[in-house]
Formats: sequence, structure tokens, C-alpha cells
Amino acid sequence: MPFEFDPSQLPDSFYEDPYPVYADLRAQSPVHVCPDGSIYLTRHEDIFAVYRDPRLYSSDKKVQFAPVFGEDSPLYEHHTTSLVFNDPPLHTHVRKAIGNALSQKIVDEMERGLETLVAGLLDRIEQKGSADLVADYAAAIPVEIIGNLLKVPQEEREPLRRWSLAILGGLEANLSDEAKTAGEQSVVEFLAYLDHFVGQRRQSLQSDDDDILARLLRWESDGVRLSTLELYHQCIFLLNAGHETTSNLIGNGIELLLRYPDQRADLMENPGLIGSAVEEMLRYESPNQLGNRTATQAVEVGGLNVAADTVLTLCIGSANRDESVFVDPEQFDITRSPNRHLAFGSGIHTCAGLNVARLEGKVAILRFFERFPRVELNGQPERARRARFRGFASLPVVI
Ligand code: HEM
Repeated sequence: MPFEFDPSQLPDSFYEDPYPVYADLRAQSPVHVCPDGSIYLTRHEDIFAVYRDPRLYSSDKKVQFAPVFGEDSPLYEHHTTSLVFNDPPLHTHVRKAIGNALSQKIVDEMERGLETLVAGLLDRIEQKGSADLVADYAAAIPVEIIGNLLKVPQEEREPLRRWSLAILGGLEANLSDEAKTAGEQSVVEFLAYLDHFVGQRRQSLQSDDDDILARLLRWESDGVRLSTLELYHQCIFLLNAGHETTSNLIGNGIELLLRYPDQRADLMENPGLIGSAVEEMLRYESPNQLGNRTATQAVEVGGLNVAADTVLTLCIGSANRDESVFVDPEQFDITRSPNRHLAFGSGIHTCAGLNVARLEGKVAILRFFERFPRVELNGQPERARRARFRGFASLPVVI
């Protein structure tokens, strides 16, 4: 009997806990042919190999997205223009432009502002005595950090989170009409906002401005510049890429330490463990569970011959629990070393914001438990029902 699994028909239990399904897939059908003909990969080794070969496995999603969104739709335009869904040369071009603007040096400079932001949010939670940690904390941090990176004025940040959630929601496999419309509308509103915001920035651009938008505006390589639309879509992508993923890292990380009090006590005794703790949170509850590639030619993947143009789903969440790479993979262990997780992908598209994400995770999670040593859950945490982005819709606590 072939192993049955259809990622477009997931039962409710999957959103609560997908890991038993991943384990069954790794054991019984690691290179799984889905009902729509796409391939679902769950082994670390296979996924790593695909990430490392952009010549054989393309990130370009035009063929895939056209029937889902329609070629003249704003969601199609956005997702097919952003660097993550492009191959070289557009990818190389944009990546060079933003690469340095997210360097370790820039990230180190962010730390003070981040500490102040986190302290302010914790003050507010302390006054209330209880909180939904998603809305009141985890989701409030990344949007400010990316807002700062792009220098979006404080008073204009309100719609950013809504736009970002709706646009990324468009990538879920079972996209409802309502979610699609919300995504379309958000791209349109976001582009209109950028027209105004980037237009102003162009006027006031100084030659020594060194932030990410200034770099993108000035960027030219071999005489090629980004078109205005290409520029706008990279800005939208940056905001989206660093937003829900990082919120989920913070929410998942806090929930894990509430679930594993011994590990939490170890961390409080030895805060120097926060670096490896965040890596373990990224491995154990990866905020981005799925990636995709398309085979550019007939190729053998994990022992199976697949035809050119076959769509591959790379299940990061499963690779990060693969027993052939991790000792006791189902064990959450904040001292784990080595920890070769794939939470940030690998190869030419490796997350460009990983230093930003790690810093946010470390500061937000450590400061939270330092401030509220007696914090407890105040009801059942509710998972967001998304297969691609794993996080909580709400995480109620009493402090
Ligand atoms: C915990 C938080 C985060 C996770 C788990 C995460 C995960 C990922 C993954 C898996 C990819 C690779 C996609 C692929 O190869 O198909 C990626 C790409 C990317 N991420 Fe992140 N990310 C996070 C935070 C951020 C932040 C904070 C930023 C920006 C400030 C960011 C910016 C990007 C960019 C620009 C890319 C595209 C890189 C490229 O295509 O070359 N990410 N991210």
C-alpha cells in the first residue's frame, strides 16, 4: 500500500503537531509523490542537496504561481519579482545590494534600540499582569525592527503587519478566495504606500546614507539598476521575510521554555546558553517549515528519477528532526551541539536576515524570562493554522 499524504488536504491534528507525520514520511516515503505530482522531501540529506544546487533546482515560481494567482494579479507580480523566488541574475543582483545592509556590524548596532523596545513592551505587560504574547510581544518586535531598517516613520507602521500576514498567507497550499483577496488588496495598498514613501526618500537621499533602502535605491551593477517595481517588491519582501518568521521564533521559543521548565531553569542559571537555545528553538519548532524548488531538468532526487519541471517541497521542519543527523531529535535540548538545522535554508538563498532574527530571538526570549520568572500559561495556546509558517495565533500568559 503506498503511503498516503496530501499536503493540500491536511487534518486539523497536523497543524497541532506535524512531527509524527514527518517521521512516518521519513520512514516510509521520504521522497513522496503527492497526488498533484509534486515531490515532498523530508530527509535532511536530500533537502540539503537540493538547496546547494541552484542550477538543477530553480527558485523561479512563475509557472507555479500563474494558475494560482492569475498572471495579471498583484500577488503574482509580487511573489515572482522578490529575490527569494528568482534565480540568478536578478537574484544575484538584489542579493548583492542588500547583503551588506544586514551585516553583523549593522545588526550589532541594532542591539541597543532592540533592548529599549523590548523593555518598553515588558513594562506594558507588567502593568497588565497578563498578556497574549503573540499580539503584545512576539509580533510587536519584528515589525519595529524592519520598520527601523527601512526607516519607515513610526506613525506609518500600523498597517505593515496586516499587509505582511495577508501577502504571506497567499503562499499557503489551500488558499481560500477570502485569503487571496486579502493578499491582493494588501499588495495594492503596500505598493501605493511605497510610491509615496520611496518617492520622498529619493528626494532626500544623501550620498553617505547607508541603510538598506538607500543601498537599493543607489544600487547599480554592470550598468543595470533595479526598476522601480523591482525595488518596491524587494521592500515588501524584506518586510514580510523578517516579520512572521521572527514573530514565530519568539512565540515558539517562549512556549518551548514554558513546556520544558528544566531547560528554562538551566537557561536562567546560565544565560550564556541563549545562543544555543535559540538555535535549538529554530530546529525544534522551525518558523518556516517548508521551502520549494523546481527541477530544471530530469534529475535523480533521493533515489527517485523526477522529470524536468517537477515541483519539490522541502520540508525543513522534518529535516530538522531527522534521526540520521540529530541525536535524539525529538528531545528539546538547549545545549545541543552540533546543531546543523536548516531553519534558515542553505545555499545561495540562505536567509539574508539570519543575524537580525537571531539577535531578536535572543534578546526577546531572554529578557522575557528574566523579567517574569514566575510566568505561566493562562489557557491553551492556539496554533495558527498554517503549514508553511509555524507559530501561534495566541499565547496567553499570566506573569
Ligand atoms: C526566525 C526568523 C527567520 C527564518 C526562520 C527565516 C527563514 C528563511 C529561509 C528558510 C529562507 C530561504 C528561502 C529559500 O531558500 O527558499 C529565507 C530567506 C530570506 N530571508 Fe529569512 N528568515 C527569518 C528572518 C528573516 C529576517 C529578520 C529577514 C530580514 C531582515 C529575512 C530576510 C530574508 C531574505 C531577504 C531572504 C531571501 C534570501 C535570498 O533569496 O537570497 N529573514 N529566510
